[in-house]
Amino acid sequence: MADKKKQKVAALIPAAGMGKRMGKEKKKQYLFLGDRPVLAHTLKVFEGIDEVNEIILIAPVGEEGYCLNEIVEKYRIHKVTKVVPGGKDRQDSVYNGLKFVSNDTACVIVHDGVRPFVSSDIIKQSIELCAKVDGVAAGVPARDTIKRVAKDMFVEATMNRAHLWLIQTPQTFRYKIISEAYNKAYIDNFRGTDDASLIERLGYKIKVIMDSYDNIKITTPFDMIFAEMIYKNRENR
Ligand code: C5P
Repeated sequence: MADKKKQKVAALIPAAGMGKRMGKEKKKQYLFLGDRPVLAHTLKVFEGIDEVNEIILIAPVGEEGYCLNEIVEKYRIHKVTKVVPGGKDRQDSVYNGLKFVSNDTACVIVHDGVRPFVSSDIIKQSIELCAKVDGVAAGVPARDTIKRVAKDMFVEATMNRAHLWLIQTPQTFRYKIISEAYNKAYIDNFRGTDDASLIERLGYKIKVIMDSYDNIKITTPFDMIFAEMIYKNRENR
């Protein structure tokens, strides 16, 4: 118990994407969902978790001031200690955010700014488990059949769905491990499609925990329609 209390937790929220797939002038993280922007919803969930000590918000280059004024201060997200610029890809953004994490941090939880429906429960579970394993990734079992398809569009293989999971964020790691993995990825010129893959390649074990299909990443205009439905449904509950 005493150890758990001492463990300092930093949340890294990459929100530096350009939102090109949304096809709107406003970036997806700034679009309103009910009474506030998507990003403010996401940050509010982390703000409400006692175990989270600091939040580092990674903003689009040149929009750090906008994020600070229009999101962090406007919606009173007090745990945001730094708003830092992102990079070209999500991996570059997370790497930059990592450089600003306090040295005495034990556990780093990375979560996409555009996943506003993350539950407090999954964050708490991730933090608790992170002390016992190398890393934790939230995910859901694949519901569709997944095939590997060649360039000529012929099927190469059909995967055994029983073992396939769709991986989301949050992803949670011990600070030392994620720092080592990110540094090594840049030395080796390795690009991954999630944070855990950078850690896995060093031989560390990532535990997957069952999340919810609601924890969507808002990417396209359809996702926004879906997000509004989830939001209204929750409001009515
Ligand atoms: O682009 P994608 O949908 O994978 O983005 C996931 C999250 O990563 C979003 O919150 C987005 O703002 C963030 N991102 C970032 N820096 C980038 C690209 C994406 O922080 N260069």
